[in-house]
Amino acid sequence: MSPYAHITGWGMAVPPRVLTNADLEKIVDTDDEWIKSRTGISQRHVVSEEESTATLARDAALNALRVANLNPADLELIIVSTSTPEHIFPATACLVQDRIGANRAGAFDLSAACSGFIYALNMASQAIRSGSVQNALVIGAETLSRFVNWEDRNTCVLFGDGAGAFVLQAGDEAGGVLSAVMRSDGSGADLLSLPAGGSRLPASPETLFNKQHTIHMNGREVYRFATRVIAQATREVVSSADLKMEDLQLVIPHQANLRIIETAMRELEIPPEKCFINIERYGNTSTASIPIAACEAIQQGRLRAGDNTVLVGFGAGLTWGATLVRWTGPLLPQRHIYPTSYQVWVAIRSRLLRIMRRIEGWIWGRNI
Ligand code: ACO
Repeated sequence: MSPYAHITGWGMAVPPRVLTNADLEKIVDTDDEWIKSRTGISQRHVVSEEESTATLARDAALNALRVANLNPADLELIIVSTSTPEHIFPATACLVQDRIGANRAGAFDLSAACSGFIYALNMASQAIRSGSVQNALVIGAETLSRFVNWEDRNTCVLFGDGAGAFVLQAGDEAGGVLSAVMRSDGSGADLLSLPAGGSRLPASPETLFNKQHTIHMNGREVYRFATRVIAQATREVVSSADLKMEDLQLVIPHQANLRIIETAMRELEIPPEKCFINIERYGNTSTASIPIAACEAIQQGRLRAGDNTVLVGFGAGLTWGATLVRWTGPLLPQRHIYPTSYQVWVAIRSRLLRIMRRIEGWIWGRNI
């Protein structure tokens, strides 16, 4: 019998710096009342110079490993879902692998915009269910503030930075990720994009001048698409897990806009107490929004072991998807793992590997 993929650890990280609606009033022609009533957002967290997607991802990952009582060296797979990677390559996941000391893990990035965490969760869960890995780490991490046009009031008020992570582990008992859907429609690719910086439009003075390295969005079209697919994907995962809507204890939707969430929940006839919303404090953190919301739902006692929850997301691509998860919690007994002091050894190990590579280069390099 194939093992189940249980979620046994969770963690989040947001930068300390907060940008309120009042702060934005000083940057663009907007006001608190407009932002709150149209989006539900009051503030968002933004990175400072020394922070980046990898640092947020690392912090969320270490918190998740602490909850799961799992050592980084026991991980076999790391997927970082992000639209704001550190580089086109290497993958941000490899930087995280090095920084947390997951020396036995394969690591790669996954790009599916705000749906990315759902896609990554499904991929990691399939790897566990197939028996190919036992322990996996899935991270959603974004520094959208680095790609926002701070002169465009249509977009700059919406986004925030942050990261969330889940540890997945194989277990024989039924539970964990029970069903998933992943969908896409590339005919809507132009509705939400970051046009330049890839192979289609490499960086040039023109792309910089035209602000093509920042987020471009047709808000109304994305809004219409989002309300439709949230309801559709939620129904699909519930029915493919052989459950009914009444069996759900909580829905955690991607936090893009309060009105989108409310419209979708009305259509699904899901009452407010069964839907988790925290957009007010974080804004849209893209692929990080679902795991951040899950961490807070647990903290507030709204998501407990044994609960059936739907995680549902949508975003650029266009992409959308959902998973139905029976919540688990740590499988391993509580033990002392010291991710922070471990970090010192991890940094030394990484430095040694670099030095050894250089020495090898000196010895062998001339013969190649
Ligand atoms: N402050 C004040 N006024 C504003 C602002 C602002 N920050 N932004 C826009 N306006 C103005 C517009 O200029 C427009 O004025 P006009 O009528 O004089 O032209 C007016 O407000 C209404 O604009 P709309 O675009 O119609 O506003 P709407 O109610 O649709 O709300 C919003 C805009 C919030 C962007 C909404 O369309 C939305 O949330 N769409 C979905 C966006 C989304 O979810 N994106 C993320 C997807 S996930 C991912 O992959 C990243």
